[in-house]
Amino acid sequence: NTGSLWGGRFSGGPSPELARLSKSTHFDWQLAPYDIQGSRAHASALAAAGYLDESELQRMLAALDRLAADVENGTIVAAESDEDVHGALERHLIDIAGAELGGKLRAGRSRNDQIATLVRLYLLDHGRVITHDVVQLIDAIAAQAEAHMGAIMPGRTHLQHAQPVLLAHHLLAHAWPLVRDLERLRDWSVRASASPYGSGALAGSSLGLDPALVARELGLSGPSENSIDATASRDVVAEFAFIASTIGINLSRFAEEIIIWNTREFDFVTLDDGYSTGSSIMPQKKNPDIAELARGKSGRLIGNLSGLLATLKGLPLAYNRDLQEDKEPVFDSVETLEVLLPAFTGMVATLRFNTDRMAELAPQGFSLATDVAEWLVKQRVPFREAHEISGALVAFCEKNGLELHEASDADYAAIDPRLTGGVREVLTVEGAVASRDGVGGTAPVRVAEQLAELTARVRAF
Ligand code: ARG
Repeated sequence: NTGSLWGGRFSGGPSPELARLSKSTHFDWQLAPYDIQGSRAHASALAAAGYLDESELQRMLAALDRLAADVENGTIVAAESDEDVHGALERHLIDIAGAELGGKLRAGRSRNDQIATLVRLYLLDHGRVITHDVVQLIDAIAAQAEAHMGAIMPGRTHLQHAQPVLLAHHLLAHAWPLVRDLERLRDWSVRASASPYGSGALAGSSLGLDPALVARELGLSGPSENSIDATASRDVVAEFAFIASTIGINLSRFAEEIIIWNTREFDFVTLDDGYSTGSSIMPQKKNPDIAELARGKSGRLIGNLSGLLATLKGLPLAYNRDLQEDKEPVFDSVETLEVLLPAFTGMVATLRFNTDRMAELAPQGFSLATDVAEWLVKQRVPFREAHEISGALVAFCEKNGLELHEASDADYAAIDPRLTGGVREVLTVEGAVASRDGVGGTAPVRVAEQLAELTARVRAF
């Protein structure tokens, strides 16, 4: 049973069916650099506790360096007979350092505390990559907002014309959820930075190894408080998958709008050729595939999260092999976002906005009816009545094919004597937008402040 980590009490090797089921090297091999990093820290803990003398430690670290280099350049790979990354690397370490020295490294650790630590190291690394990618996307959105500070578009609720808003305000509404995703990743990283190493299989180690030393060497904040929890919990992995899902959902909602805006009927945006695709049969087609893939992949990210949560539900303490099922979904979430985010950012950065078309549509659909009601309130008409009067004006204009400002003074007076020609002063989209000047509103001065605040918040990442 050479090469296996657990042959001693067994009369023979695993059945081929078990070996095939049990094997995880096809996905956990990518944790090899982290496993070696963990081994270096563990070797130092063994030396500090007197289980390796100075020369053994130096030879061990040199062998681990060599192992890391060989893994990196691909001269060392997992063999068909390797169950997992841990066994494969021990086998290769023994090849390099000899059975005597190589066989000492496993003392006081288990694959259970190893894997719980490695998945954190992996996620912390990729969390940094994804943070960077999200920052780039926010920057692209902010740049588009800044370039279109004067443009007004129809704001919608229920996908119906509601009130005019600045295009920049609308775009920044897609940036803020991503800022919260950055903040989520930062908060998550505090919890992810606890180090399970030293927890052993579940109960800790009897060898007097110092888990704080290992945590320090790994750049983690300190050892986990409870060895059972440290080896059996995966909420840190699930939380990462949740954040990946919210990022996916936030992209998907923006994507859906870009897809709609890109239709002939809306005609609000033009996609750059480099960020859109053609059809194999229809020569005229230019499709928003990046946006559609964002929308589609958000479903996949949600699936990864819910699969993981289902795996965790009902697991008794401590480690169970079910926990091996945490890796493929979360690896997939990482890979999905790392491919999707740069493409999405490129699409957003190169999007061209048809602001004339937006401006033309902004006042349509009686989107200034609220302004009529609020003008009446400023004339001290109770809002209930003001709402009724404005509604009656909408009905009148709809019946007569007029816009709100096109009705005559006599028409206004016939609807209600308190409705006078003076109302026309608020019946421009510019006036409507400028008047919504409370904090967080769509008035140009507020949106400029908002953009400055967003930029400052993102600079912290
Ligand atoms: N490959 C396992 C995992 O991903 C770690 C190995 C633990 N195996 C075991 N039999 N205790 O969780």
